[in-house]
Amino acid sequence: MSNELKFRLPKVLPYFTRFGQHWRWNVKSLVSPHHALQERVRGKVVLLTGASSGIGAQVACELGAAGATVALVARNREKLEVIARDIRNAGGNAEVYPGDLTDLEECDRICRTIEKAHGRVDLLINNAGRSIRRSIKFTYDRFHDYERTMQLNYLAAIRMAMNVLPGMEARNEGHIINVSTVGVQANPARFSAYLGSKWALEGWTWVAANEFAHTNIRFSSLNYPLVRTPMIAPTKIYKYMPVMSVDTAVKWMLDVIITQNKRKLGIFGKGALSMYYLLPKTSESIVNLSYQTIFEDPPENYVSAKTRRRASANEEGHTNTIARRHQQDAE
Ligand SMILES: NC(=O)c1ccc[n+]([C@@H]2O[C@H](COP(=O)([O-])OP(=O)(O)OC[C@H]3O[C@@H](n4cnc5c(N)ncnc54)[C@H](OP(=O)(O)O)[C@@H]3O)[C@@H](O)[C@H]2O)c1
Repeated sequence: MSNELKFRLPKVLPYFTRFGQHWRWNVKSLVSPHHALQERVRGKVVLLTGASSGIGAQVACELGAAGATVALVARNREKLEVIARDIRNAGGNAEVYPGDLTDLEECDRICRTIEKAHGRVDLLINNAGRSIRRSIKFTYDRFHDYERTMQLNYLAAIRMAMNVLPGMEARNEGHIINVSTVGVQANPARFSAYLGSKWALEGWTWVAANEFAHTNIRFSSLNYPLVRTPMIAPTKIYKYMPVMSVDTAVKWMLDVIITQNKRKLGIFGKGALSMYYLLPKTSESIVNLSYQTIFEDPPENYVSAKTRRRASANEEGHTNTIARRHQQDAE
């Protein structure tokens, strides 16, 4: 590698093409989303992770009906088979590729198999995800919370992208959608592990979009609010809260597939972000207020701050007694 500073002429024409296409597809999505989706995905190969449940399962059926070949990825083969059968029965094309994406070599294997079977991947949707809702003070002895979320929500998604990007670059065409959350804008308490991984994913997506802007490869982030899927079922309080329906979440995803917009974010996310930049301390207090108000059961083996204080006071007392004894012996 030379230290010499080198420059080259940038390609700026693609910016204008992109500008024109951006408006064209946004108008199409608004006026006739059904036809626009068909036009966008007919004959294309879509690799969809997290296709066995929730948002992914329904998006898979919509893509199949619109004429895409859908490669369905998740761990549960049986659930994937049912969805693939539904798509085929409706006249679409779908194949299942079960695997655990937390194993990065499995990510490589799945991508290689799909590219071999279908020749390419035109659209990658990194939708598989796991969420953990737990206060930081309850994670001192649970570092694996952070490792698990990073492994699936960040590392697996990037690994999938690393596998399909060379083909997209060679064809100068492709789209990668990374599914994120409005938590990245609102930063609700108790989601440090989950949001850390989604922030990382968004950081990567943003940089990738900037680096590939002069090509025909696009990157999008979807910042969903709470959606009524199995993911939020274990949290009792969400049963009583107004949350987005899976149907609306699917419409959001299809809109991003059609428009290839950089980000899909609702009014709540925009409000939370503006509030943070305008009044950061006030926004922190509002989140903290809700954090303090809602009780959270500590995990097993949790040692509270009070117990730790008592233990350290006992230890200190014990050390002082020993020191006193040593001093008395010396006298
Ligand atoms: N629901 C919400 O409130 C909400 C809000 C914001 C963002 N999101 C995001 O939306 C996306 C979809 O979530 P959802 O609500 O539809 O959740 P979901 O119903 O729980 O679906 C999660 C999907 O990920 C798959 N998955 C989990 N672990 C996997 C692994 N190790 N390897 C391969 N696949 C794995 C699951 O399939 P298997 O179990 O068969 O592997 C399932 O298909 C996620 O990225 C999530 O973070 C959801």
